[in-house]
Amino acid sequence: MQTYFVTGGAGFIGTNFIQHCLKSQPDWRIVNLDALTYAGHAGNLDYYTEQMPERYRFVHGDINDSTLIERILKEEKPAGVFHFAAQSHVDRSIHGPLAFVEANVNGTCRLLMACQNLWDQMGRPSQFRFVHISTDEVYGSLGQEGFFTETTPYAPSSPYSASKAGSDHLVRAWHATYGFPTMVTNCSNNYGPYQFPEKLIPLMILNIIEEKQLPVYGDGLNVRDWLYVTDHCDALLEVLKKGTPGQTYCIGGGAERTNIDVVRQLCNIMDERLERKATQQSQRLIRFVSDRPGHDWRYAIDASKIYTELGWKPKFTFCDALKETVDWYLANRAWIDTIRSGEYRSWVEKNYKNREKAK
Ligand code: NAD
Ligand code: DAU
Repeated sequence: MQTYFVTGGAGFIGTNFIQHCLKSQPDWRIVNLDALTYAGHAGNLDYYTEQMPERYRFVHGDINDSTLIERILKEEKPAGVFHFAAQSHVDRSIHGPLAFVEANVNGTCRLLMACQNLWDQMGRPSQFRFVHISTDEVYGSLGQEGFFTETTPYAPSSPYSASKAGSDHLVRAWHATYGFPTMVTNCSNNYGPYQFPEKLIPLMILNIIEEKQLPVYGDGLNVRDWLYVTDHCDALLEVLKKGTPGQTYCIGGGAERTNIDVVRQLCNIMDERLERKATQQSQRLIRFVSDRPGHDWRYAIDASKIYTELGWKPKFTFCDALKETVDWYLANRAWIDTIRSGEYRSWVEKNYKNREKAK
């Protein structure tokens, strides 16, 4: 049995990743450390806590708590680390940037120090890996043409992406300075089960169910490159197993869509699922609202490096995986009710209150 240490595993991608690993890697044990911010839900993994306590351990804690991290690392002596923990929502970073620097920059630095310390104490095992999960947003915005690659210069636009850029630089510096075996992944927009409904796709699904307005920022023509979370999890396993320390891997879904196209497609899928009549079609709920400040226009990834060097490619089409995502939310209303706390309601009030109609 090999133990892997996961940070932020009670969030969207971390939850999917842990479930994926516990199913597909029978000789893995996972230790998940999560601060349980508004975006973290330990209950996502209750099944594993109850059914396979020897393979899954949850620790409630902050990556900034060096004493705790060092204690857990010493107890568990993991074979590697997957670092997901972060403040992850661009709009929230505009309202409160400091929390992003504290979690994403300071937290990553403290985690690196603790992990490197353990690696030194264990005699620098050659198989050890620290996989840092980052974002394509560090590269800024594309125009009509071109793609992000591993060599695209950093040009972050939001406090969120700037703090992730800072964390990427720290992770690379730990390899260059200390020889610590880190790898950075920069992926595009994920979607799938367990995503907190402040992000575009789950927010729209919930609003369509409740027949609330569908707020589309600006003209809705910003483009994102959608990656199904299961494909992302597969890619991270390939990076761990075949990636080279010191390297960066861009991970994209190869599914560029404008926001308005995504929202219209969701409306159509949901109308079919909910058997809505022609007069009740969800597209009537779409509202163009004022734009996000510093809103990057287009993200798109050229993933040829991970295709050719590690043999990974996305398996899911956007159309099929979007339907699966909708079906998951329709089948998991209890999960939605649990996460929609007072905090969620006050966020919606804060973010959308002053967004006047754009057109
Ligand atoms: P999320 O917000 O759903 O989950 C983040 C998790 O980290 C939460 O469980 C939260 O409680 C935890 N956390 C936050 N601060 C912490 C701290 N100081 N200590 C311990 N735990 C803490 O985010 P996500 O969408 O699952 O993203 C996971 C990672 O992937 C992030 O690093 C994000 O930057 C990156 N990423 C996400 C996407 C995407 O589309 N969701 C795309 C590219 C990269
Ligand atoms: O590209 C990767 C990034 O994708 C990750 O690093 C981030 O953690 C993740 O949150 C995501 O960032 P985005 O800002 O692209 O995702 P979000 O779901 O917030 O928005 C997607 C697009 O939809 C973006 O162009 C803004 C737009 N949008 C979003 C919301 C919440 C709307 O038009 N209306 C909305 O209400």
